[in-house]
Amino acid sequence: MNLKKVLSCLCCLLCIISSRAQQTNLKYNEHHRPQLHFSPAAKWMNDPNGMVYFQGTYHLFYQHFPGGTTWGPMHWGHATSKDLVHWQQKPIALYPDSLGYIFSGSAVADVNNTSGFGKKGQVPLVAIFTHHDPKGEKEGKENFQNQSIAYSVDNGNTWTKYAGNPVVKNPGIRDFRDPKVMWFAAGKKWIMTLATKDRITFYSSPDLKNWKKESEFGEQRGAHGGVWECPDLFPLALNGKTYWVLLVSINPGGPNGGSATQYFIGQFDGHTFKSDQQQTRWIDYGPDNYAGITWSNTGSRKIFLGWMSNWNYANEVPTDTWRNSATVPRDLGLVNIKGQILLTSHPSPELNKLAGKPVAIASSEIAKTGSLKVTNHIKLPGQYTLEFKLDKIDSYSIEMFNDQGEKLILGYNKAEDRYFIDRTHAGLSGFNPGFAGIAYAPRLTAASSGDLKLVVDASSVELFADQGLTVMTSLFFPAKPYQQLIIKVNKETVVKRLVLAPMKSIW
Ligand code: FRU
Repeated sequence: MNLKKVLSCLCCLLCIISSRAQQTNLKYNEHHRPQLHFSPAAKWMNDPNGMVYFQGTYHLFYQHFPGGTTWGPMHWGHATSKDLVHWQQKPIALYPDSLGYIFSGSAVADVNNTSGFGKKGQVPLVAIFTHHDPKGEKEGKENFQNQSIAYSVDNGNTWTKYAGNPVVKNPGIRDFRDPKVMWFAAGKKWIMTLATKDRITFYSSPDLKNWKKESEFGEQRGAHGGVWECPDLFPLALNGKTYWVLLVSINPGGPNGGSATQYFIGQFDGHTFKSDQQQTRWIDYGPDNYAGITWSNTGSRKIFLGWMSNWNYANEVPTDTWRNSATVPRDLGLVNIKGQILLTSHPSPELNKLAGKPVAIASSEIAKTGSLKVTNHIKLPGQYTLEFKLDKIDSYSIEMFNDQGEKLILGYNKAEDRYFIDRTHAGLSGFNPGFAGIAYAPRLTAASSGDLKLVVDASSVELFADQGLTVMTSLFFPAKPYQQLIIKVNKETVVKRLVLAPMKSIW
């Protein structure tokens, strides 16, 4: 072993020891620490990776740098959950090696043992990820990102990298990464959806080791304000018909600046993806939901999880021992709005198990003055959900604030027919000049009734409107937690139901 290798092993060892020590003492109660969302015990996190459900356990891997709170040489961190809500931190699953850093990717349960990695009836879990070679990148090469695999035959506890890596070699495309693999039952083959610069390339394989290029999609389609990353492809049914959904994250070029995830609805036949969707659609219009993909091996249910940040400022947000977290898990669905098939997101129902006693507020209380101080009904600060049903939708706003003059305002503007989250004066924002501001999202239905669900945590809000048609996720960093909550409605708004539920911490 040369000196460089010894030093790098030593460094890994120190990382493990320090992160274990931090985990044991950790109360997850630091200022701004999410209480309803997964975040790493310590250090840096970006994209969720390798999400697979296997034998009653949800696995979550994630882009992780155990050596610091900014992006660095990427590892796959690992956490598991029995209920999608409470997470147990596990040892790092994949370390960088001679082929490079471990970039984003996916994992599958190879139930038919097509890979042959399972012995004596074992079902191997197989991770498919990008090896990013920083040396090649520095040298100005084009082919420094390649796809590799690793497998586990002990329920994801330990992983062995395949000796034949990489399994998909780079043909000379600088951005060639983030493989998402699924079993295409009709063709009895695996399909890899790969981000290849400004388009998606589909590959197929009988055994996860040998891959053949099938087709490309998207060069002239959708948003192209930045490079395409972290795709996902899966079927969803609506009224007995199957549609295929293609998620594509782009950075920059999101609807409110920086990173965001667009989607295409179409058809996939095992070879090509076709979509006649004309408009660009976003799974979440807020600034802070990126690189999200769905869990594999969950049957027809599709559960999505995003990274709750934005590359514009992810390295600078004002947290101390750890940096960044995931969104809440969301169940995806489809609806038909005037002949257009649209994607919906709902907080996964498992979150309800965190709910304390819900408080229903009589609509007459809000009707009196058009303004309601909710802190008379719920104890703040704390994390909570708020649900709102409107018989007749008109402008409304919800304000969260503290006694330092910091205020987050969100709501719906009827004249502009759009939702907004205004974090201009929400708290700390000096860490990045682009952070403070107002994010907007269109209303995608003309229904006269409306609804809203908010998931509010220590430093984030997730807004789901119109049965999950319009979604916005936004971070905020108040110097002191918000202790006040006021709802203001325009006189035309008829509130039918307003329910608040305090939420227990997941930690
Ligand atoms: C998306 C991304 C991926 C890449 C990873 C690196 O946020 O840029 O494309 O694999 O992060 O950490």
